[in-house]
Amino acid sequence: MLTPDGLKDGLKTRRFARKIFSFDDIDSTNNCAKALAGCWAEEGTVVVAEYQSAGRGRLGRTWLSNRNENLILSIILRPSLQTAAINLLPLYVAVAVSSAVEAVTGLRVECKWPNDLLIGGRKFAGILLEGSVNQNELDYVVIGIGINVNQTTFPPEINNAATSLAHETGHPVDRAVLFREVMSALEGHYDSLIANGFSGILPLWAARATMINKPITVSLNGTTLSGIVKGVSRDGGLVLQTGNAEQTLFAGDVTILKE
Ligand code: BTN
Repeated sequence: MLTPDGLKDGLKTRRFARKIFSFDDIDSTNNCAKALAGCWAEEGTVVVAEYQSAGRGRLGRTWLSNRNENLILSIILRPSLQTAAINLLPLYVAVAVSSAVEAVTGLRVECKWPNDLLIGGRKFAGILLEGSVNQNELDYVVIGIGINVNQTTFPPEINNAATSLAHETGHPVDRAVLFREVMSALEGHYDSLIANGFSGILPLWAARATMINKPITVSLNGTTLSGIVKGVSRDGGLVLQTGNAEQTLFAGDVTILKE
């Protein structure tokens, strides 16, 4: 069982996860974190849970995670950034979680735009950002992170597309150690992006983006676009070459096609 004291034991951060709310059961850690953020919880406050009854992902999907096996958490940020930065924040989180997972497991993580983390082409982690805006500035952002750590069996509908760190390493991974590494990476990259902007994040994301130069389809609101990924724009969009033209997309469900 993940407890606040156990998670904080050896934590090296100054602000992130200094306050932790932990639950055996919750509907969604993002719901709880949003309620706390609305009541002025301080930046860096974390909600963790062993099980979510209504865990959600992007595009209205469900996030399924076995009890006691994974990391399910949300963290409250209050960045003084314009609302447009909401497209860059997922890349920051993806880079931070990737570097933490790589440090703890030695595995090589792939970033799939906008919010997915893969190993060997299979998804092991997802990121869901939900924010509140006040006069074109972000009031707060809740970053929800689900990492398949020690789950080794998956529902049939995602069995071919999902993986976990235990499955990839061949041994269980200590969730508290990984939690502390994720918090250190999130805080370190956050401090540098607040001081210097996102220019340092983009190359770190692109270095892990195995989808670059690959053919993909992007579906949104019933339409599907095909093209070759050229990279990400300075404002976090996906740059897609479609025939002779380039388009920058800010939302959609990406499928990487076999070449
Ligand atoms: C996705 O891949 O579509 C994003 C998945 C995000 C899942 C996490 S688990 C913790 C937090 N609480 C939720 O309800 N969702 C996020």
